[in-house]
This record gives sequence, C-alpha cells and structure tokens, in this order.
Amino acid sequence: MRLLVGLSALILLDSIGVPVCAQPATEQLSICLSCHGENGTSQAEHVPSLGAQKSDYVVAQLLMFREKQRIAPPMNDMAANLSDDDLQSLAEAISKLPAPETSAPIEAKAAEEARALIARYRCGSCHGADLAGQGQIPRVAGQREDYLTAALEGYKSNARPGYEPAMNEVSRDIKDEHIPVLARYLAQYRSEQSTAGQVPKP
Ligand code: HEC
Ligand code: HEC
Repeated sequence: MRLLVGLSALILLDSIGVPVCAQPATEQLSICLSCHGENGTSQAEHVPSLGAQKSDYVVAQLLMFREKQRIAPPMNDMAANLSDDDLQSLAEAISKLPAPETSAPIEAKAAEEARALIARYRCGSCHGADLAGQGQIPRVAGQREDYLTAALEGYKSNARPGYEPAMNEVSRDIKDEHIPVLARYLAQYRSEQSTAGQVPKP
C-alpha cells in the first residue's frame, strides 16, 4: 500500500513537471488533496482525512515530516521542499476544509465500551471534550478507522514519536484488543463543536 501511494505521488509530480515547492499554495494544496480527499475526507486506505484538522497540529506534523522526525512515506518527500511559509499557508487552508464524513454508527454496546475507555484514559482532556482537537493537539473525531488503528499501534510500539511523548505514554497502557474498539468508535464519532454551542460528552 505504501509503495502504491509513493508511486502515485511520483506520477503526479512527473505529469505536471514542476516540483511542488515552485507552485503557489493553492496548487500545492490540490496535489495534497489528490491523496487526502478533495472535501476533507480521505477515500484512500491508510491516508488520513485532513478536514478541519487543527492548523497548529498540521504545522507541527509537516515540520516533523520535513525534518524526518516522523518517518512516513510519501510525506517525507512531500514536505522536503516546503518553506516555513508554505507549511503555515497549507495548514491554514487545511484547517478550513469541512470536517471529515464519519463512518456508519456502531452498535450501542461497542460504543459504550469505547466511551468507557475514552473516560478512563481521559482522551478528551487533551483532544477536547468533543474530540475535535485544540491547539497543537489533533482532531480525532471522524478520522479513518485504519489510520487511527495504525496511529495508536505506532505510538504504542514507539514506531511513531510525537512532538511530545504524551501519546506514547497514554498508549503504553492501552491493551492491544482495545485499540480497534477506540478506532471504530472515533471513526464514526460526529463532533458537534463547530456547529452547535453545546458540547456533547464523547
Ligand atoms: C501520495 C499521497 C499523498 C500526498 C500527495 C500527500 N500526502 Fe499527506 N499523507 C499521506 C499518507 C499516506 C499519510 C500518513 C502517513 C503515516 O502513515 O503516518 C499522510 C499524512 C499527512 C499528515 C499527517 C496527518 C495526521 O493526522 O497526523 C499531514 C498533515 C499531511 N499528510 C499533509 C499533506 C500535505 C500538506 C500535502 C501536500 C503538500 C500532502 N500531505 C500530500 C499521503 C499523501
Ligand atoms: C496528555 C494529552 C493526551 C491524551 C490524554 C491523549 N492524547 Fe492523543 N494526542 C496527544 C498529542 C500531543 C498528540 C500529537 C502527538 C504527535 O505529534 O504525534 C496526539 C495524537 C493522537 C492521535 C494521532 C492523530 C493523527 O491524526 O495522527 C490519535 C489517534 C490519538 N492521539 C488518540 C488518542 C486517544 C484515543 C486517547 C485516549 C485513549 C488520547 N489520544 C489521549 C495528546 C493526548
């Protein structure tokens, strides 16, 4: 899968014939969204949705990709030639995309189990009561299930370092069998934060 994604980036760059960095931010963004989904929702396996993602988080991750502190093909290549200004303007534009479409609701018992885990590990204390993220901490509501599973497994095994170690510490205590429970729940969790004044309990 990773190979395939890398390949499509190459073809993409080749077909337009100019490096990503030589283009204005709006054109760069359309290259990004060819993988990440035009309307904020990714349709591609293992490629995260970016809609309504917190701009400070996006800047932090693009920096980590650029500096090869987060190793993930094809993003290290994609970020390699982006200037600090590019990172900022791409992150701004990304944060204004609509929030991702959520997956189909899961059955009540599974939702209850996930909510208990979320309360136990206090996910909302960092990711926001509505799991829509805050500041440098990402939105996780409505993210793709396969990507969420990979992210949590990556933190747990320390294959994915964070810009700070919070997630590596949190996920160390999460049992392997609870990771898919959390991922399925978060993927279908509809955050109301941007539309309503009242923040529901995740
Ligand atoms: C060829 C497909 C592809 C292209 C083009 C692409 N990305 Fe990505 N992007 C990915 C994949 C795959 C990941 C997940 C990497 C991983 O496994 O952690 C990712 C991860 C990210 C993340 C981290 C999201 C998170 O929730 O942590 C950000 C931010 C991002 N990309 C932004 C961009 C931007 C900005 C561009 C354009 C300059 C871009 N991407 C172009 C495939 C792509
Ligand atoms: C102490 C604060 C804190 C707590 C508690 C916390 N997180 Fe996080 N989380 C973070 C930070 C900071 C990051 C970004 C780290 C990085 O750079 O990768 C993050 C990243 C993530 C990501 C990656 C998102 C992406 O787009 O790549 C997922 C998934 C996630 N957290 C899920 C959870 C879940 C589920 C819980 C509860 C079981 C939880 N977090 C509890 C601070 C926290």
